[in-house]
Amino acid sequence: MPKITYVAADRSTETTLDLPQGTSIMRGAVSNDVAGIVGQCGGYAQCGSCHVYVEPTALDKLEAPESEEDEMLDFTACTREPNSRLSCQLTVTDALDGLIVRLPERQYR
Ligand code: FES
Repeated sequence: MPKITYVAADRSTETTLDLPQGTSIMRGAVSNDVAGIVGQCGGYAQCGSCHVYVEPTALDKLEAPESEEDEMLDFTACTREPNSRLSCQLTVTDALDGLIVRLPERQYR
């Protein structure tokens, strides 16, 4: 199974999970009690509480955000960066094995 690593905002904690293909990076975090990802809307790109910063070198492995995700990224609690994504919109595949995502300082304003 692909490995995904979640890094706390202050870099004090790293959690690496083996996640099944087809699940979302948000769902993997929530199911495994990774602190810092909420996923309040359940994965519909409507809450912004699953915001992550993707390791910049991995951005080319990801599909570009759909318009719904792109719009919601403007309303996340922490600043949107070029590598910002909603983790509910990132589906785990073999191509993402080794992906590292950093969590923002907070998911709510
Ligand atoms: Fe709500 Fe991702 S879980 S936007």
